[in-house]
Amino acid sequence: MVWTSRPVKNLSGAVRAPGDKSCSHRALIFGGLADGTSRFTGLLEGDDVLRTGAAMAALGAKVQRLEGGEWIVTGVGAKGLESPIDILDFGNSGTGSRLMMGVMAGHALTASLTGDESLRSRPMNRILTPLRQMGLSDTAGPDGRLPFSITGTRALRAITYAPPQASAQVKSAVLLAGLSAEGTTVVEEAKPTRDHTERMLRGFGAEVGVERKPGEPIRVSIRGGQTLHAVEAEIPGDPSSAAFLVAAGILSPGGDVTVEGVMSNPTRSGFYDVANLMGAHLGAEECGEAAGERLINVAAGYAQLKGIVVPERYVPSMIDEFPILAVLAAFAEGETVVTGAEELRVKESDRIGATVAMLRANGVEAEETPDGFIVQGCAGKVPGGGLVETRHDHRIAMSALIMGSAAQKPVSVDDIAMIDTSYPDFMAHMAALGADISET
Ligand code: S3P
Repeated sequence: MVWTSRPVKNLSGAVRAPGDKSCSHRALIFGGLADGTSRFTGLLEGDDVLRTGAAMAALGAKVQRLEGGEWIVTGVGAKGLESPIDILDFGNSGTGSRLMMGVMAGHALTASLTGDESLRSRPMNRILTPLRQMGLSDTAGPDGRLPFSITGTRALRAITYAPPQASAQVKSAVLLAGLSAEGTTVVEEAKPTRDHTERMLRGFGAEVGVERKPGEPIRVSIRGGQTLHAVEAEIPGDPSSAAFLVAAGILSPGGDVTVEGVMSNPTRSGFYDVANLMGAHLGAEECGEAAGERLINVAAGYAQLKGIVVPERYVPSMIDEFPILAVLAAFAEGETVVTGAEELRVKESDRIGATVAMLRANGVEAEETPDGFIVQGCAGKVPGGGLVETRHDHRIAMSALIMGSAAQKPVSVDDIAMIDTSYPDFMAHMAALGADISET
């Protein structure tokens, strides 16, 4: 079904950021492994997270949504997960499927895993390689694509592992397997990736070591056999989802958008830093904390941006924000160059190809490079008028709709269903800010 976003003069107002997707997955997983009953408010109720909750329930945890939106999770303890009866279907979710493989590796169970067309095309060897070293068995073929079955063991071995790619999912899967392995598991990260697993495991009472020495990889370590204890926590707002509304505020001629309760964590803030380098003057007002994370209200008003060469050090901390950054770059003056972002090739879509195609379909000059892209900014409103192929990718759909709200002509997308995986309230929030988006 085609949906169209038409240009509007003003996007203004305040909305609350939805719960962070990464933290929501981890809340349900860690709650399901803990001793006792955890309670969560502000959990993201997107399809990806709901499927992680369903997987934990299928493995024996008690996962319940109360009226009013609070979630209650009663855990099974460190080694208590059991084989599920049905196939675990993770839908579109790389995070859910990969973190859960790490969890299941240390339990005496066999589970079959699958996902949607997008997830079935994504690489899983990055997870299977270290988990096999620890003792996991599986039925995956050499290409390491879902569907396949895995069999865990209570006799997992600790390893020291240096992932070849900057990936919080790989780091987290290994650490979660390490939680039930014999000995101390270490992940050596060349570039820092999001640290929610480390922080949240500590919140659940586990000891997680983090060693930083200049010029050396970060060493994250976890001793096996630790017990997690139930928590009560509020999930912080998602900076990746907030980035779409912030971009809408920057691009809208009368833009005055505030997104409230956004998690301010240096491993997630690259988009905001780069937008400011391009000339956005984002406001950031402290507004408390949630689950040990600082929260801010982010204010975004219209700004004429300038293209830049995005410093590679920002890439891991904005890995999900490149499609919306490319939209900002399309409205900027001059060229924007992204390098060192080859991981974008294996996201929900090939995000380098999908992002460049989105811009070109709307009259913007852009080209792919093996590890990034180059955008020639229009120094003002992009032409628009195109139909964007979303390729099962929620972030491409949202980026294109934001572009349409500020372009010369409307921008359409071929599908909006995937937006529900990460930001079910996106349409409602855009409508509240004054956007004109409808089915056509
Ligand atoms: C995530 C890690 C990132 C990110 C994804 C969420 C996580 O993936 O793209 O949306 O919650 O750990 P990679 O680990 O593949 O970079």
